[in-house]
Amino acid sequence: MAPHSRASSQLPVLRATASTAQLTPKGYPPTPVWAFSTEDAATIPGPEIRVKAGGRVTRTLFNELPEPTAVHWHGIRIDNAMDGAAPLTQAAVPTGATFDYDFVCPDPGTYWYHSHNRSREQVARGLAGALIVEDVEPWLGLPGAASRELTLVLDDWLLDEDGSIVEGRWDDLHAAAHAGRMGNTATVNGQPYPVFDLRPQERVRLRIINVATDRIMPINLPGLSPKLIALDGHPVVPRDVETVELAPAQRADIVIDAPVSASTQIGLMLDTGRGNQVELASFNIEGEPMAAAQETTRPLPSWTTRPRPDLSSAQKEPLLIEGGAMRGMTEAMYHGKTMGFRELTSHGMAWAFNGVSHGMDEPMFEAYLGRTILMELSNRSAFPHGIHVHGHHFTILTRNGVSDPHKDVRDTVLIGADEVVEIAFVADNPGKWMIHCHMLSHQASGMMGWFKVA
Ligand code: C2O
Ligand code: CU
Repeated sequence: MAPHSRASSQLPVLRATASTAQLTPKGYPPTPVWAFSTEDAATIPGPEIRVKAGGRVTRTLFNELPEPTAVHWHGIRIDNAMDGAAPLTQAAVPTGATFDYDFVCPDPGTYWYHSHNRSREQVARGLAGALIVEDVEPWLGLPGAASRELTLVLDDWLLDEDGSIVEGRWDDLHAAAHAGRMGNTATVNGQPYPVFDLRPQERVRLRIINVATDRIMPINLPGLSPKLIALDGHPVVPRDVETVELAPAQRADIVIDAPVSASTQIGLMLDTGRGNQVELASFNIEGEPMAAAQETTRPLPSWTTRPRPDLSSAQKEPLLIEGGAMRGMTEAMYHGKTMGFRELTSHGMAWAFNGVSHGMDEPMFEAYLGRTILMELSNRSAFPHGIHVHGHHFTILTRNGVSDPHKDVRDTVLIGADEVVEIAFVADNPGKWMIHCHMLSHQASGMMGWFKVA
């Protein structure tokens, strides 16, 4: 019997299954991965799921992996029961079992889905894909907009010489106490160094998603006049950008303009620090030139469904980030017991939020439905972190006490070492919502907690 006919209901199937992928150039051995599929062949990244804003995504997850899994729909302001944050919002789905996901996507934008059970390992094995929520009225083709779009899923893999994913280092506490599990192989849409064709003067909307477990990706698009139009799905007033820094889980929608003359020399560059860049993909400019696009970039229509924070009556909540190498912490609570740093590390813990490592036993705070939450995130560690709030998008108010010029609205914020960032959001979605670092090695070694909205 075909696996899809075993599903419990009539929804389209999303299988999580073992497969292989050619992550390295042809001639090198393929990599055994865990991947999603809707049809028979599982792909890296998983199949792109598309829905119009206000529409429903319905999928029966069928777990063919050797261990339990669950799917989180990252950035969607979703019904709590569908959030996939195992074990907080659902039990992880055992091998051979199914779970029906059925939810509305209220806000247009670029999102993604990924495993949310043992995610440090499961996402690193490939369980991630793009989720695109389309504008109700098409933006593509309008004056000043792009003529087409391209989804670029950026990933970072730690591979052995035989092409397999490095095993036996999943619990590497040294890496987890530093910047996390760093890969040695980058892919764009599951391929090494793909080439994308553009026509001269063509204007294209890139939907860039960083699905790496731990690597921050500063991206440059030299020669393509990049304009940022959305962050984490939420529109921004179009602005010129040189480097777009994407923490794990962050997305950027960027409009690019291909040059007038044909060229093969244009790269999507990853800034690796100290002035070094590596090319992740390249653009090949050829063919009949398109008519030049209007000079000003057309903004995306604004969201209509997200309530604005009311700072006059906000509930203030601190989020103190401590731990990691170089600073450590004197002590933290772990499962109700206060421990010194050494003892914490013997439990695989290296990080804490508000003095608690792996704070899943009780909520960090509770909020009445509709209340504005003003959070002050203080990073007392020596590393940057990408902090993600489930079920809500927040406004970035200040950085180190200075009002943020853009007031971007996001679901994941990158906070540098010793930085203090204030964010605000309306707790308008009832349920239990996780807050965690999206460097999944950090999350697994303590950087997680949750809050309750009722
Ligand atoms: Cu992208 Cu808690 O997840
Ligand atoms: Cu972190």
